[in-house]
Amino acid sequence: MTKKQRVGLSRREIIASAATFMAAGGAAKRVLAVEAPDSRRTRREFPDIASGNPDLPEFHGPRVIGATPGRDFLFQVPHTGATPLVLSASGLPRGLRMTDTGLIRGKIQSPGTYNVRLTATNRAGHAHRVLRIVAGQHKLGLTPPMGWNSWYAYSTGNTAELTRAAADALVKHGLAAKGFMYVNLDDGWQGGRTASGQIMPTEKFGNMQALIAHVHELGLRFGIYSSPGPQTCAHHTGSWGHELLDAQSYARWGVDFLKYDWCSYTKEVPRHPDLQQYIKPYAVMRRALDSVDRDIFFSLCQYGMAHVWTWGAKAPVFGNQWRTSGDIIDTWAAISRNGFDAQRQLYPFAGPGHWNDPCMLMLGYGKYWSGALRPTRLTPHEQLLQVTLWSMLAAPMVLSCDLDKLDKFTIDLVTNTEIIAVDQDELGMQGQCVDRQAGGMEIWARPLWDGTVAVALFNRGAKSQTGHIASWDMLDPVLPRGARTLRGSQQVRDLWKRKTLGSMARISMPVPSHSAVMLKIGNPAH
Ligand code: GLA
Repeated sequence: MTKKQRVGLSRREIIASAATFMAAGGAAKRVLAVEAPDSRRTRREFPDIASGNPDLPEFHGPRVIGATPGRDFLFQVPHTGATPLVLSASGLPRGLRMTDTGLIRGKIQSPGTYNVRLTATNRAGHAHRVLRIVAGQHKLGLTPPMGWNSWYAYSTGNTAELTRAAADALVKHGLAAKGFMYVNLDDGWQGGRTASGQIMPTEKFGNMQALIAHVHELGLRFGIYSSPGPQTCAHHTGSWGHELLDAQSYARWGVDFLKYDWCSYTKEVPRHPDLQQYIKPYAVMRRALDSVDRDIFFSLCQYGMAHVWTWGAKAPVFGNQWRTSGDIIDTWAAISRNGFDAQRQLYPFAGPGHWNDPCMLMLGYGKYWSGALRPTRLTPHEQLLQVTLWSMLAAPMVLSCDLDKLDKFTIDLVTNTEIIAVDQDELGMQGQCVDRQAGGMEIWARPLWDGTVAVALFNRGAKSQTGHIASWDMLDPVLPRGARTLRGSQQVRDLWKRKTLGSMARISMPVPSHSAVMLKIGNPAH
């Protein structure tokens, strides 16, 4: 049996056990979509999406960000606008400074919540934003992370050079300016241990500190990958028995994010583990992460086993996100399964600091596990649907493709700041399906911080059809307690087209097969 076959087998076992757990909780119905004639017709059609005016000064990305006092803080304020552009910040906590390019660094001295008033000015006008900085223990990930991960791009063929290029490309293609800030290594960087047990990168990565310093100089953050088992899923060295040493290495190198992937830990637990046995490896790594002097976002990857969403955010794990299902891939069936079906019941568990993770964005050119670089198999409409759904779900927005091969469509798809703003909304309330209509139409809604409601019309069916909202009270079930209800005529804005459609009391809109329309309903309260 080849190494590849062995990896595939154990992966199947893992995913099968995840599916069993989810079936037990009724959270994941397996719906496999069938490729139908109409969706084949839309294969080459490109949805109509608008990009914003790059000259206007504008802030993007999170409005709230957290950190631990006394630890290194680094945040590049995402913004766009014609140069010369003058940025200023007032109300920064003691210990932080902002450069004239918007890079905030330093160490916050005292816990608290700080409202930082940001201003950007250029010849086209002014922009203002209040950025809330929350300083305290376990305050990371107050909005879902956005960034890049190496796995679907290069699988185990990733190198330091490719990772640097990915970081550079995030900046070059304007993605960093819109909020994409994590550059995350996945499996395959580990080269074994020294005699004293320290984890070493392979030759392909050489000096990890230098690579991370480069990423930080760009104002980006760096992520790494390990497993609580002796081996990772691709049979590289895991953290088993070396959790503290590994956390110390990560902190020394300057790591900001850890994806901790169950993999071979299966061998360390009985055939039918109890809940404590599922929690234990993540609690051990949390203890190690808390003992080092660095903020490291903690991403749990165990495919949704043991209803991870019910315990992943709590003591003793304090996870910042957890995968809710098996691996995604670039097919309609996988988007349907990970995005719609595994998420439908999980909205109560997401919130600031802890997110459901339906896996990565299947966009652009990647290896998609193995073979040569190739474009995603999703149609342009399916790609738009994935970004819409992930934004409605408050899901991590993680690209995993060769960022130097991004075409204009893909860049427009992931840099529409009105869509990103929904994903990054500071209420952090995951969208819910409020209505299922004939032919596979689903209406989802999520309330936003400014009193408006984001609404998506998803056509999962094989034919173009019309989605309906007969009256706004259909949106009531998603509103937080005490929120104003939407009644009568309300302002409706099409977020993909960046166009206000007018004041409406109901909606009927055509949606192509396997595509989506995303709207914002109501007049912003601020
Ligand atoms: C598992 C994870 C994937 C990826 C691979 C790497 O399958 O779910 O996201 O990290 O391992 O081997």
